Amino acid sequence: MNAAVSLPLAQLLTHAAAAVQAVRGGQSLTDALERCPAAARPGAQALSFHALRWLGGAQAVRARLVPKTPPAALDALLLTSIALLWPDAGPPYAEHTLVDQAVAAAKQRGGFVNAVLRRFLREREALIAAIAHDPVARFNHPRWWIERLQRDWPGQWQAVLAADQQRAPMTLRVNRRHGSVEAYLARLAQADLAAHALPGTQAVVLAQPVPVTQLPGFAEGDVSVQDAAAQRAAPLLIGAGLSPGARVLDACAAPGGKTAHLLELADLDVVALDSDAQRLDRVHDTLQRLGLKAQTIATDAGDPPAWWDGRLFDAILLDAPCSASGIVRRHPDVRWLRRASDITALARTQARLLDALWPTLRPGGRLLYCTCSVFKAEGQDQIDAFLQRHGDAAPAANPESPGHLLPLPDNQADPPPGSGASADGFFYSLLHKT
Ligand SMILES: C[S@@+](CC[C@H](N)C(=O)[O-])C[C@H]1O[C@@H](n2cnc3c(N)ncnc32)[C@H](O)[C@@H]1O
Repeated sequence: MNAAVSLPLAQLLTHAAAAVQAVRGGQSLTDALERCPAAARPGAQALSFHALRWLGGAQAVRARLVPKTPPAALDALLLTSIALLWPDAGPPYAEHTLVDQAVAAAKQRGGFVNAVLRRFLREREALIAAIAHDPVARFNHPRWWIERLQRDWPGQWQAVLAADQQRAPMTLRVNRRHGSVEAYLARLAQADLAAHALPGTQAVVLAQPVPVTQLPGFAEGDVSVQDAAAQRAAPLLIGAGLSPGARVLDACAAPGGKTAHLLELADLDVVALDSDAQRLDRVHDTLQRLGLKAQTIATDAGDPPAWWDGRLFDAILLDAPCSASGIVRRHPDVRWLRRASDITALARTQARLLDALWPTLRPGGRLLYCTCSVFKAEGQDQIDAFLQRHGDAAPAANPESPGHLLPLPDNQADPPPGSGASADGFFYSLLHKT
């Protein structure tokens, strides 16, 4: 855990517990951490990430130790501390340090917190065994999520849940316009940053995450941060090649990772849309750093009369809004914020976007649909339903259209596996218009 900043642990625990309380109240962790003083943010983030990964177990244990729910702030401090003392999680601090600091953070309720945490430590094995029958406590995901994974992935659901508990690697995309992967690996080695490349791609996985300011040439656009699974999008859409100047629509573009990758790989005329004007500003920033250009429009991609000039696109990327169930390692709050009903609503939005964009694609053109979801409702089921509605759509076969990629080690069928690094969960379907 990288929480070793100079602030006292008690202070970091207070901020982390406030963030956990906010997530339990329905706010995103990113928003909650924004309210944290800048000096405490990295430490509070590391602690709250850990706490949210083990929140299911911590909630069940707390309910046994303290059956009457304490006030929300005190409860969040207890849950955060219990999660940080969880044995499977590789506790990041010595137990006595953690307990002492949690007691200090609790101020006048210190005696109570001390009693609860010390009892947890004394009876830890028995308590954890006693809650093991409860899937939420055991797998640290909501029940509906676990059941959906069981239905979608009868052979892999437990491995997917276990993978969600891991910390994701920091993966870079080397800008091919500025230099080769080999040359960038050499620059990383010079900067004492251990890393390895994923064969046949622009992806480089760092052994340890670092702030982007430490990456050689980041400000100059030599490299970007992007997970290996997300780096599949641009090469899949470009395929065997799009002619220079081809008209490409990136329908849900912000913050612009895939827009930039497309433009790094080919000279394209890209229109980038996003319904969120503030997020679209980040596309501008990204493209400016990389020295690339696209036309950007803040609009609802599902309403072409509002933004389309009537000229057909050669290729469309639809990186649709989704549950983000494939990137839980990077966003451990997502599992606790989503509701089962969100999946139905998201699937409806995805279908609306697919149907609205299809007429803007020229015959012979290609559309790549993707989501960072592991749920079939947002992946294969969505595409199967689309194919029923559109007789002029023909799905490409794997490897042009890899389908679901689960966030498991070596899930990258193409390029060849072997790096040992796992990538995020994604779904990719490439459709040709006949
Ligand atoms: C998965 S993110 C896109 C990530 C982006 N492609 C990248 O690689 O950086 C989905 C995006 O869709 C946008 N969005 C949601 N509904 C939309 C709509 N109806 N029209 C256009 N954009 C939409 C969201 O604001 C969000 O930025």
